[in-house]
Amino acid sequence: MTYSKIVGTGSYLPEKVLTNFDLEKMVETTNEWIVERTGIRNRHIAAEHEDAVTMAEEAGRAALKAAGLTPADIGMIIVASTTPSMVFPSTACLLQERFGIAGCPAFDLNASACAGFMYGFSIADQFIRTGAIKTALVIGSEVMSRVVDWKDRSTCVLFGDGAGAVVLGASKEPGVVSTHLHADGTHKDVLYLPLGNKKSPNIESVKMLGNQLFKLAVNSLGDLCDETLAANNLQKSDIDWLIPHQANMRIIQAMAKKLDLPLERVVITLDEQGNTSSASIPLALDKAVRDGQIKRGQMLIMEGFGGGLAWGSALVKY
Ligand code: ACO
Repeated sequence: MTYSKIVGTGSYLPEKVLTNFDLEKMVETTNEWIVERTGIRNRHIAAEHEDAVTMAEEAGRAALKAAGLTPADIGMIIVASTTPSMVFPSTACLLQERFGIAGCPAFDLNASACAGFMYGFSIADQFIRTGAIKTALVIGSEVMSRVVDWKDRSTCVLFGDGAGAVVLGASKEPGVVSTHLHADGTHKDVLYLPLGNKKSPNIESVKMLGNQLFKLAVNSLGDLCDETLAANNLQKSDIDWLIPHQANMRIIQAMAKKLDLPLERVVITLDEQGNTSSASIPLALDKAVRDGQIKRGQMLIMEGFGGGLAWGSALVKY
């Protein structure tokens, strides 16, 4: 039996930091409101010369280095991004060109917004399990600052830029124990981002019914925790770490409660990074791995939720 296993992680955050106090000067908001309602204090903003590809490259190279591998070892590239610089070629193909590894499959996943990384992670896991490939590079890379309306206080305070990467390699033992993906298009109007085209050339900005989304996120992610544990006959006490999508501190707290995990066992980057959409889970994972919090052999639940709606989780023995 072949499984996949996380063999390396990496991340990249742009240098520029935008604080809540900076935002107070841009829209009618306060640091107190943002911290209390979301848990966010700072977020990183990409420089003009940076985009989803450049950030994916930084994160990807860091993950490969951590795995002790080189680009030539990659059997598949998946980039989850809702903010690519081009519709095509895909960010993954542009990255492949930068890595100089023509030949391996490379594609983007942009349909599931913040859940994109979990979808990519699951797909890479399936390819490795079947023996089709031995190594996959899965990246979430987002320049959310370019798709938010900086005059809309209800959304612009939430998002940030960055990229996170994971290298999955073939293993005789799990590794990735199970992945669980879901979607429900009936909630398409709760969170969306219209694309620019010839008729309407400018890409619009993120539209969100925050309150409704909040409730849907808590319910769907709660059910997902139950499903992930039940599928593997595990108890809550078997879980060492929760690595959630970083959208709102209150949603994260609700998930910690659901799993009976103290907040010390939940990886939280939201306060310093905001919501980086599909980059948030691998960014959080990489931080916890590099800080020495997550250790080999520990049991992790990763879970993401975003536009579509789409949501997904993975149970991983690190
Ligand atoms: N500063 C001050 N006041 C604000 C701000 C702001 N930045 N934004 C909104 N308000 C006001 C509203 O106008 C409203 O005022 P009113 O009562 O006079 O009408 C009041 O604050 C309350 O607004 P709500 O939207 O009800 O605030 P809520 O407590 O729901 O918090 C938030 C909003 C933070 C967006 C929350 O709903 C949320 O996090 N939702 C979920 C988001 C999510 O899950 N995203 C994950 C998937 S999406 C993705 O990751 C791409």
